[in-house]
Amino acid sequence: MKTNIQPAKGKLGILIPGLGAVATTLIAGVEAVKKGISQPIGSLTQMGHIRLGKRTENRYPKIKDFVPLADLNDIVFGGWDVYEDNVYEAAMHAKVLEPGLLAAIKPELEKIKPMKAAFDKNYAKNLDGSHVKQGTRQQLADAVMEDIENFKAQNGCDRIVLVWCGSTEIYYEASAIHQSLAAFEQALANDDKLISPSMIYAYAALKLGVPFANGAPNLTVDIPALIELSKLTNTPIAGKDFKTGQTLMKTILAPGLAARSLGISGWFSTNILGNRDGLVLDDPDNFKTKEVSKLGVLEDILRPEDNQELYGEIFHKIRINYYPPHGDNKESWDNIDIFGWLGYKMQIKINFLCRDSILAAPIALDLALFIDLAKRAEMSGIQEWLSFYLKSPQTLPGLRPENDIFKQLMKLQNTLRHLMGEDLITHLGLDYYQDLVEVL
Ligand SMILES: NC(=O)c1ccc[n+]([C@@H]2O[C@H](COP(=O)([O-])OP(=O)(O)OC[C@H]3O[C@@H](n4cnc5c(N)ncnc54)[C@H](O)[C@@H]3O)[C@@H](O)[C@H]2O)c1
Repeated sequence: MKTNIQPAKGKLGILIPGLGAVATTLIAGVEAVKKGISQPIGSLTQMGHIRLGKRTENRYPKIKDFVPLADLNDIVFGGWDVYEDNVYEAAMHAKVLEPGLLAAIKPELEKIKPMKAAFDKNYAKNLDGSHVKQGTRQQLADAVMEDIENFKAQNGCDRIVLVWCGSTEIYYEASAIHQSLAAFEQALANDDKLISPSMIYAYAALKLGVPFANGAPNLTVDIPALIELSKLTNTPIAGKDFKTGQTLMKTILAPGLAARSLGISGWFSTNILGNRDGLVLDDPDNFKTKEVSKLGVLEDILRPEDNQELYGEIFHKIRINYYPPHGDNKESWDNIDIFGWLGYKMQIKINFLCRDSILAAPIALDLALFIDLAKRAEMSGIQEWLSFYLKSPQTLPGLRPENDIFKQLMKLQNTLRHLMGEDLITHLGLDYYQDLVEVL
């Protein structure tokens, strides 16, 4: 049965806390695509197709022609940052995109000036920006809500979504004040420092029924209090951590090795990067947040507890080093020690010269478009079908995440089919295969 989905009419405001490398690459990219000078490569919503019905039907539309997504021409961007640079200046500073491309869209980018950030330096010690709001946690949340409503009115938006592209915050775990909405609101009123800046944005968005996606590994909406609020205001949420670079490779490769029942005794991953993200991650407390997000992936895919002989002894190590000369062009090396028939050892080496924000920008776009779709389809709470885009997918507490990218894609596609009243695809195909055989 087809779900009743509100049409994507009018403008969609995408508001981004953190107008750094990823956000400016996203915004510049969308503006360049709108002007017809570039292609949205890497974006499933813009370039991807989806099979519908039996293989014999040959129905394979583009996803954006199948589900009612906001059109890129109807998107308006805005955001917050602790630095005052407009999006053109920030994009020049990030050095991801060529100055020539940025010059072609300079007027559009210059117009976007960050609003003052809700910030606490204790959560990102390596940042020294002063474009910040003053006040208690409660006052900051109220001010962010006001920003959202003002932006919506000033830009004539029908709908708003928030995508956190701010720096990775220091490592923290959920504590008592994060366990219920009542406790969280009390802590806001008490100006409790255990509420991180990203949680302030998330709270403000959810309170207004504005969907929120988290591109960083910090907990943010992944706490019972904000899950409760998302259900209360019928708002979809998704997180955590854009799945780019090395982890993308891991979630492509590990399911393949596991599918062939090949053993893995070690997986050593190291990275060098020189952007501001790298600078923030140079602080051990911020790196810990990233490390935890990256480490879970292999365990979830390989399930060592059920596959002792193959993965019981796996040694998984991840390093990230700040190396300014590389800028946003992250380089990663993976050494994978595997073993096959009769325990014979083999090795795989990967050297990925990737561009971090080039991989992250289309993910941020797709998350914004899909979470807006989810809202219009009256889906609320954790949107696990968006795990495809995330390194550390948010699931219901106690539920093991699915990290295998192929299963994640199947789940995403089946969710779209389900929403549009199409048959789910199980890849069984026996029914019609038999019919075809009998005809021959
Ligand atoms: N680039 C990737 O491939 C990738 C992949 C996965 C996750 N991420 C995550 O996405 C986030 C953004 O990455 P980036 O490369 O754009 O980093 P960046 O350092 O270029 O940009 C982050 C921006 O957030 C701002 N900021 C920090 N705290 C803020 C606050 N409280 N309010 C408003 N602004 C704030 C910073 O000033 C900075 O301009 C990081 O958390 C990163 O870990 C990036």
